[in-house]
Amino acid sequence: MFENWEELKENCLNCRKCSLCEARSNVVFGVGNPCAKVMFIGEGPGRNEDLQGEPFVGAGGQLLDKYLVDLDRRTNIYIANIVKCRPPQNRDPLQEEQEACMDWLRNQTALLRPKIIVCLGRIAAMRIIKPDFKITREHGQFFKKGNIYMMATLHPAALLRNPAQKPAAFDDFLKLRDKIDELQADISKTY
Ligand code: URA
Repeated sequence: MFENWEELKENCLNCRKCSLCEARSNVVFGVGNPCAKVMFIGEGPGRNEDLQGEPFVGAGGQLLDKYLVDLDRRTNIYIANIVKCRPPQNRDPLQEEQEACMDWLRNQTALLRPKIIVCLGRIAAMRIIKPDFKITREHGQFFKKGNIYMMATLHPAALLRNPAQKPAAFDDFLKLRDKIDELQADISKTY
């Protein structure tokens, strides 16, 4: 457990705990405000993220930014992934790759102390909320774990493949907005 972001990031960028390190261009550590109270967790970097070293910078990321509305990825949220290195051909990260990487995310979450976690897609929801999470049925619902409200929404890449699901996903972001408003006493949108 690292006590500050600089040390955590430096160690994460040098990680060789699983074989995903072999083919990576960059470790995709995370982006955002280290004081944010809302954390987004995706699955793992794709091609653009691997090349640029930042989560959700491809077409899915543009859609995510649109749904964030006035929540800006650099100023009032934090975005990270379950695995920090790109799985080949964008396949789902293997259980052992997720296990090997989870300590980085645990450490990020411990330093951030978010009030709300939004999982982007099934893989993150199954890892963070519950192993039997059913994304089609349970997206948009809040689950309270300890002090943290957790919700999953449909993955932006899934929305690009199946645009008919976009209104349902947008509705999840409206629910997120309502939850932020409800917790207003604790969460300032402008930090
Ligand atoms: N998909 C993810 O889950 N994470 C990213 O960073 C990019 C695409």
